[in-house]
Amino acid sequence: MARSQHQFDLVIAANRLPVDRVVGPDGEESWRTSPGGLVTAMESVMRGREGAWVGWAGEAGEAPKPFVEDDMYLRPVPLSEDEVAHYYEGFSNDTLWPIYHDVIVPATFHRYWFTAYEAVNRRFAEAVCEVAAKGATVWVHDYQLQLVPAMVREMRPDVRIGWFDHIPFPPVELFAQLPWRRAVLEGLLGADYLGFQRVADAQNFVRACRQLLGLPTKGDTVSVSRADDSRRVRASAVPISIDYVGLEEIAKRPETQQRAQEIRESLGNPRTLLLGVDRLDYTKGIGHRIKAYGELLEEGKVSPPDEVFVQVATPSRERVAAYRELRQEIEGEVGRLNGEHSRIGAPAVHYLHHSYPRQEMAALFLAADVVLVTPLRDGMNLVAKEYVTCRYDEGGALVLSEFTGAFHELHQAFVCNPHDIEGLKQTIMRAIETPDKEKRRLMRAMRRRVADHDVQRWASRFLEALEVAPERPQRTTKE
Ligand code: ADP
Ligand code: G6P
Repeated sequence: MARSQHQFDLVIAANRLPVDRVVGPDGEESWRTSPGGLVTAMESVMRGREGAWVGWAGEAGEAPKPFVEDDMYLRPVPLSEDEVAHYYEGFSNDTLWPIYHDVIVPATFHRYWFTAYEAVNRRFAEAVCEVAAKGATVWVHDYQLQLVPAMVREMRPDVRIGWFDHIPFPPVELFAQLPWRRAVLEGLLGADYLGFQRVADAQNFVRACRQLLGLPTKGDTVSVSRADDSRRVRASAVPISIDYVGLEEIAKRPETQQRAQEIRESLGNPRTLLLGVDRLDYTKGIGHRIKAYGELLEEGKVSPPDEVFVQVATPSRERVAAYRELRQEIEGEVGRLNGEHSRIGAPAVHYLHHSYPRQEMAALFLAADVVLVTPLRDGMNLVAKEYVTCRYDEGGALVLSEFTGAFHELHQAFVCNPHDIEGLKQTIMRAIETPDKEKRRLMRAMRRRVADHDVQRWASRFLEALEVAPERPQRTTKE
């Protein structure tokens, strides 16, 4: 509930607003949904709740004025050109992202990147304090804003602060590489409650506090004891999910089913349609998947047009070198496979470097016989949950990497280790060849899991854990 015109009892802070501002060549302004799982999840959580969302509108320069969308007060935070380069592309996505994802590519360290990270985190914290009503709940999100909890606590001891980590939290051996590890841990310890995707992530955090800060820990809590601040902070797993009811409703629409039919027809009605859907990110194991598929083509185990592979890859972080290199590598591989294995009218791989509306994604999921989710490391992977949600017909099969958060919930998937190309090939073949009756049984069980643990339940669990956090600021009585 809003307490005054621009002050709210619930404040979300995430690097991105749910919508990005796009200014066309003619100077015309439009808005489009921001990429990634964080926005997918939080957009449905915030729909119908009154609150404020503090975030960046996706472009360098002056921020747009605050505005209201879907009953939510959006408070844009400006980033300069340099800050986009140093805070967002640099420290967030070229230092933290690789370290938090098992150093699949090496992390880059620059002191001036951290300086920008600190400055931008402070700007976010100030914006949060500006829109938070007395005694508000402040919910900070993800690795881009790890200093915000302590900054907000310092300015506003009256509010309750939670932080949720959408990505993995690395083992202490990797985290310890970070020259600013102490600042990051102390920033996070400003929160009353910290939520993670997996038990192992929460444990990694607690262990880092014990080993690197020398703080006492017991079970899932860390004791912070300074002269002016003596508290216990809890860190536990609350795996994120998706809007099951909303997405299933989209999948059930006659026009979505019609579109799924059209997709299959335009691909030549293959016996098996294999699908990959990812941001074009090196964590997603897209290259491993293409390699496995390429070998299956070479061995004649699959062949177009009977088997067709569609890879949808959303453009992502295109100014970061590792992402540019990945794009070149993937597109080179796709080109090679198509050169060798396509026939006129029957390409081996359909590669689409675009973002699509939700209904088109639902139609693709409905059309796909096998979805390949093969990350080398992924906090959760909502695509896996979206696929099973769309399959109200209980059709289809999910190949799922054991290095995703989703693996810990979707036990009936065809599980793979994407590094093991031979094993991945066998798993893909099993997903293709398992009898439909058995696949329906597996799909039914996975659908039950996601239906019972949807995004609303995730949000309630997080907010309840925050509400009962061990030591919390005194709630002031509402005026
Ligand atoms: P991440 O957050 O790392 O991008 P997730 O799998 O958790 O990975 O979430 C990705 C989200 O982005 C999902 O909601 C998925 O449907 C959406 N998405 C991925 N690719 C596309 C695309 N090409 N067009 C539209 N949405 C996409
Ligand atoms: C992941 C991260 C989000 C991020 C999203 C898209 O889901 O956890 O914090 O917003 O990827 O990445 P981008 O860099 O485009 O915001």
